[in-house]
Amino acid sequence: MTTSLFDLTDRTLAALVAGLEKRHAGEDGVAETLSRLNAQDCTQRHEPTVATKRDLACRHLAAGLAATWHIDKDISTAIGDLAQSLHWQRIPEHVPRPGGSFMDDYAFANLIGPGGVYPGDDFMLGLFIIGPGQIYPDHLHAAPELYWLFSGPTEWRFSVDGPWIQKKAGELHWNNSSESHAIRTLAAPLFAAWAWTRDIDGDFSILGA
Ligand SMILES: [Fe+2]
Repeated sequence: MTTSLFDLTDRTLAALVAGLEKRHAGEDGVAETLSRLNAQDCTQRHEPTVATKRDLACRHLAAGLAATWHIDKDISTAIGDLAQSLHWQRIPEHVPRPGGSFMDDYAFANLIGPGGVYPGDDFMLGLFIIGPGQIYPDHLHAAPELYWLFSGPTEWRFSVDGPWIQKKAGELHWNNSSESHAIRTLAAPLFAAWAWTRDIDGDFSILGA
């Protein structure tokens, strides 16, 4: 019997919850994320409405999973079994203006949320990839956001002219609603789990464009 997409997703969600509770309890955004995740209906066992597809940025998956292994082996194993079956997406409005290579070097896949395995109720949780040497531009959105960084280091800034601050693999980062943030990758790709806890259809702005 083959393991279903839903079983693989449930195993990944369980590993993420266990990892957050074990390693990051009490940190900013963790309680809100776990509470909103717990409120989601993950019992709907219908087939996904969007065809599964890979993305160019999935070439960084192996490096991302290897880095994740050093953070949490259960999460790395669960994502490794699931990742190829997810629908990897890009949103042009969320990336820099044309000309750079960013669009071919970034992707996300929702476990919960639009295009995800489960539809979600004003909540998204997924995986995120950015290739090395890229900048995910300064932006803000109404949705509060939690990142769990599985690879690194990466650099972050929280205003358009602000200093870049290094974050290591294994760290969390929480953005309150409408707080500016940008991500710069260095030699390693960024591989992360991330969640928008509410207001997922709210405003989204690229800054300094
Ligand atoms: Fe963001």
